[in-house]
Amino acid sequence: MFKGIRIAVALVSAAMLILVAGCGGSEQGAAKPGDKIVLGFSQIGAESEWRTANSESIKASAKEAGIDLKFSDAQQKQENQIKAIRSFIQQKVDVIAFSPVVETGWDAVLQEAKAAGIPVILTDRAIKMSSGNAEDYYVTFMGSDFVEEGRRAANWLVGFMKKDNEPVNIVELQGTVGSAPAIDRKNGFEEILKGHSNYKVIKSQTGDFTRAKGKEVMESFLKSAKAEGQKIDVLFAHNDDMAIGAIQAIEEAGLKPGKDIIIVSIDGVKGAFEAMIAGKLNCTVECSPLLGAQLMEAIKDLKAGKTLNKRIVTKEGVFPADVAAKELPNRKY
Ligand code: AHR
Repeated sequence: MFKGIRIAVALVSAAMLILVAGCGGSEQGAAKPGDKIVLGFSQIGAESEWRTANSESIKASAKEAGIDLKFSDAQQKQENQIKAIRSFIQQKVDVIAFSPVVETGWDAVLQEAKAAGIPVILTDRAIKMSSGNAEDYYVTFMGSDFVEEGRRAANWLVGFMKKDNEPVNIVELQGTVGSAPAIDRKNGFEEILKGHSNYKVIKSQTGDFTRAKGKEVMESFLKSAKAEGQKIDVLFAHNDDMAIGAIQAIEEAGLKPGKDIIIVSIDGVKGAFEAMIAGKLNCTVECSPLLGAQLMEAIKDLKAGKTLNKRIVTKEGVFPADVAAKELPNRKY
């Protein structure tokens, strides 16, 4: 009888020991073989058609890859992204990925991720550290070459306008202030125009990558140009959404977008192809948001112990209006 009780007590104690050991393991985030990889992803927001396609690509690809995705939308605020990354660190996720809304201001939180031993992947946008080498704080950066996109927009424009001596007045709708695409696209565009002194950017302001802001800023460009007796020949918009907003402003001002004002923008979203087919936009330079599959593959490689390339550049093209109708059915975003 006593012997039976002793055996029962020993069995219960052993079971409790196993349970306690199990709890300790998961508190430390130790991944057990067969466990799902946990990815914390901090998205900028939903400011554009591009961004929505990017979020969908990440969510669908995580599901397909069997990766447990913790997705957080920062509503275009850096402080929200920092909070999300800190919460991922606390939750001891396996990998953190994020698309940084602006280039700077990540030092502290990335040092925390590094101290916690959690690898960080940058998607879409680059960062700069105020001290030290940014590359020491992430395992890979995947996304477009924004400087090249700016160059492509300018090269297309110069080839299309075929004006070597006459002045060409350009207005520019910039993306979010301090963001990598706004800085780089501006630089790439200006780099090409340096070789064409008759092309001048006469007004340049941020439209924050949104349609509403793009429309509002274009309205003010049109008003001030009229008051100053200037003619606007070209609009360069850092993304399609701002160009689409600006198209409305141009039409409301009684002008023909795509004819009275030549428009080149960046992204290649379906909305831009529709605007080109309607004759209201002249060219879109592609910037692909479909980074999901590549991201999941990189995460799996990382967990398998492989070293990732520090920079993975997305391959992209340029789509002028005359190919829009043929291309639209092939567009995936
Ligand atoms: O970082 C990519 C840019 O961000 C896209 O051009 C824009 O549409 C988005 O919001």
